Amino acid sequence: MTSETFISKLARNIPPSGIRRFFDIAATMEDVISLGIGEPDFDTPAPIVEAGIAALRRGATHYTSNSGLLELREALAAHTQQLYGQRYDPIHEILVTVGVSEALYVAMAALLDPGDEIIFAEPCFVAYEPTAVMVGAVPVTIPTTPETGFQLTAEMVEAAITPKTKALFIASPNNPTGTVLHRERLVALAALAEKHNLVVFSDEIYDRLVYSVEHVFFASLPGMRERTIVLQGFSKAYAMTGWRVGYLLGPAALVAEMRKLHQYLIMSAPTVSQWAALKALEVGEPFVQAMRAEYDRRRRRVVDGLNAIGLLCTEPHGAFYAFPCIQSTGLDDNEFAERLLQEERVAVIPGRAFGPSGVGFVRISYATAYEKLETALERIAGFVRRVK
Ligand SMILES: Cc1ncc(COP(=O)(O)O)c(C=O)c1O
Repeated sequence: MTSETFISKLARNIPPSGIRRFFDIAATMEDVISLGIGEPDFDTPAPIVEAGIAALRRGATHYTSNSGLLELREALAAHTQQLYGQRYDPIHEILVTVGVSEALYVAMAALLDPGDEIIFAEPCFVAYEPTAVMVGAVPVTIPTTPETGFQLTAEMVEAAITPKTKALFIASPNNPTGTVLHRERLVALAALAEKHNLVVFSDEIYDRLVYSVEHVFFASLPGMRERTIVLQGFSKAYAMTGWRVGYLLGPAALVAEMRKLHQYLIMSAPTVSQWAALKALEVGEPFVQAMRAEYDRRRRRVVDGLNAIGLLCTEPHGAFYAFPCIQSTGLDDNEFAERLLQEERVAVIPGRAFGPSGVGFVRISYATAYEKLETALERIAGFVRRVK
């Protein structure tokens, strides 16, 4: 008998992330330019770090309320109202979580029963489907393609709806494609959610990182406030991935159930990080603007560079990823990523890590210094010339 026999069916059914493997290989090599990682290259802005340190020094080393610091929830309510004109009650409608990662889990666990179907557009962030599986739900994925700008339409969703469909998952801006869903698409999806009585999970973690387009707050669309759980966090906009703070917004009756699960799973999000997050809301805006401007500059360089190399790339309008098609090289996305790493020391992620419709694409993160991106583009150009 081996210890593997102890492993649950649930754990067995969940595949390891296709992203980690590349990090592990890249970590053993020298002079690698990593365009693989999905997090800001910027450190957390200094005043936010200082607020965390000050919180520790004055003894903020205890649990907070299960829902999170009241001061933080009040600031989140004001922030959401200011950005999107929607008022959430800090006591009943906001829960501070350990990143969107935890928010995804407690939201799905509170609302989905075993066998309930939840619809995702794909390619998508690696955690969505495994999280649905972890709560016993059935992920139903809809492939999106560059021909339609990776947009998800109401027609596509309607075709996937069955009597078991309980939820629709919206991810805009999208990781890995950088797609921002257009307002008219979202309005049509909202009407569909109403028609089929679906609950909507809306992952808006990249809402502050959109370029020359509008971000639509899904819960602000007609009828959506009462059926939408907004998943949000500090990781991306404020360069705070390591602090592990996120939050969710939703109707009081639903948030109460999520709070219950969160209470037993987590107790409360890290206290020092919550104080830092509060500071981020107070003073972070100029930093967000500056980082966004720099991502935008890099985005233009990367998209132009990839298209010039012949790796066709739909223009991403959000997040910090480009998702070029690499089929013209004759390699598949796994071979492309492996050989690019071994031969040119540039790490990218094979598109299939984000679902079957990502086959033939790679994800390139431009959350990397401009000069490094230029060197990486030169290396990619040399590689593509050689293999073609
Ligand atoms: C779309 C999306 N949602 C959620 C997350 C998780 O973020 P966190 O748990 O750091 O808040 C990520 C991280 O890469 C992401 O890209």
